[in-house]
Amino acid sequence: MKVLVIGGGGREHALAWKLNTCARVSQVYVAPGNGGTALDDQLINIPITDVQALRKWAQTEGISLTVVGPEGPLAAGVVDEFRSHGMRIFGATKAAAQLESSKAFSKAFMQRHAIPTAEFETFTDPAAAHAYVEQKGAPIVVKADGLAAGKGVVVAQTLAEAHEAIDFMLLANTLGVSHNEGGARVVIEEFLAGEEASFIVMCDGKNVIPLATSQDHKRLLDGDNGPNTGGMGAYSPAPVVTADVHARAMREIILPTIKGMEKDGITYTGFLYAGLMIDAKGKPKTLEFNCRLGDPETQPLMMRLKSDLFEVLWAATEPGAHGKLDQISLDWDRRIALGVVLAAHGYPMTPRKGDAITGLPKNTDDAVVFHAGTAKQDDVVSTSGGRVLCVTVLADNVKLAQQYAYEVTRGIQFDGMQYRRDIGFRAVKA
Ligand code: AMP
Ligand code: GLY
Repeated sequence: MKVLVIGGGGREHALAWKLNTCARVSQVYVAPGNGGTALDDQLINIPITDVQALRKWAQTEGISLTVVGPEGPLAAGVVDEFRSHGMRIFGATKAAAQLESSKAFSKAFMQRHAIPTAEFETFTDPAAAHAYVEQKGAPIVVKADGLAAGKGVVVAQTLAEAHEAIDFMLLANTLGVSHNEGGARVVIEEFLAGEEASFIVMCDGKNVIPLATSQDHKRLLDGDNGPNTGGMGAYSPAPVVTADVHARAMREIILPTIKGMEKDGITYTGFLYAGLMIDAKGKPKTLEFNCRLGDPETQPLMMRLKSDLFEVLWAATEPGAHGKLDQISLDWDRRIALGVVLAAHGYPMTPRKGDAITGLPKNTDDAVVFHAGTAKQDDVVSTSGGRVLCVTVLADNVKLAQQYAYEVTRGIQFDGMQYRRDIGFRAVKA
């Protein structure tokens, strides 16, 4: 069978790498792919991003199954487009993807269905937003409504920062948010304390199966300092998600979300990613929903997944009222997987492109360098985006995984390379 992965980041490289190992898969295509998928002679990049053009290409090529990586194509209706032509595709429909593409939609949804989340208000008028933060005080969180590649959130420690963020988002749009209908809006919400985890499940329209747990590192600098990014590294499993937290997350957040969507007339299919904040008592609250896998969480998750991903996705996309995920159980490597993101000079605000990358090691069974913002021209691989590579390894414990990942990282070079030295720190026992 021929399989198509839509997207061009590290997450999609990891999906393509994994699908390429599956028994029934004859060829994996990646649209548009990146320098890493170009380097791999088992994968083929397809330079198409337009949803309709991609569907036409997939039909002509005889693609049996498509899986969508990023939120952009989901929000643009790629799943609706493929399905309306009878093609198997795993992902959220355009309507379902609003859970991610609009913070205002998802917060109102959570409120309506009593799903635990931070208290909030939504604003279009800067004066009202400024007055609200004055009333609530700091710390407080200001979020742009619209897709912003993980950069539309400001956790303001002071009122001055909150006021500045409101002006950024409602007046200047300095963060480059793609606005939803009705223009610029912000959600202002209560600051939640605790530890974060990424809780990702697959849903086939009815059945829900959780993936292994993971934890991302959103801030640019060691110790969770500096600006928010799309993610600087991740590992799996995340010990903060104990059996009890896991059960609560399923019971209090995931299942009510899938049911709530159904009640609202939207059948949920695809990956669903709840960003959790887990407080000191082990109560999880939802920071955000994503209608897709996490990046970089997918890179460690794919290293740990032992099940045949094609068969899982095939079951999930079984035609009919819903899929057959109830017949699937996922098998995970017991080791820890840990991925360190190597980012470009200037990331996240002004990432530089075009720096040549040298020293890329050969992948092994327990160390793979997934590419994200890279491009290959002739025999040169260079940076072409903010998050460039994700060095991902398997090891028996977090400390060993860290040592191993940083050892592999040491050989890789490009001008301006930035990375965190402490990925996995919350899981390292003193
Ligand atoms: P989001 O895109 O909504 O997940 O926000 C990005 C990051 O901002 C999260 O991963 C958290 O680190 C932080 N964040 C978002 N909302 C809150 C909140 N209510 N309280 C504390 N931190 C938050
Ligand atoms: N790693 C965070 C995300 O994918 O949204």
